[in-house]
Amino acid sequence: MAFVKVATLADLESNPLIEVMVDGNPYALCKFDGAVHALNGICPHQGGPLGQGELNGAMVTCPWHAFEFDCRTGKNEWDESVETYPVKVDGADILIDLA
Ligand code: FES
Repeated sequence: MAFVKVATLADLESNPLIEVMVDGNPYALCKFDGAVHALNGICPHQGGPLGQGELNGAMVTCPWHAFEFDCRTGKNEWDESVETYPVKVDGADILIDLA
């Protein structure tokens, strides 16, 4: 799959962490330190919606049991990880590569 538009920069203005859906699958988009990052939206612990959590610094906190994942790498403190995806910003559009 090529890059797919999932949001605009304006969508991340009021909340730096949002959930977006592509073909029925959730992804977590976050903006940290001026860069946009994309993660699989399903927490590997028990399936919580990461995009509905909170962003604290670079860490995405899962809303179900508060596991934290670095939005830049997808890793948590135990070196487990959530899949990450390349992000491209084209003008005001945010695209992610789900290949
Ligand atoms: S489902 Fe995410 S921390 Fe448990």
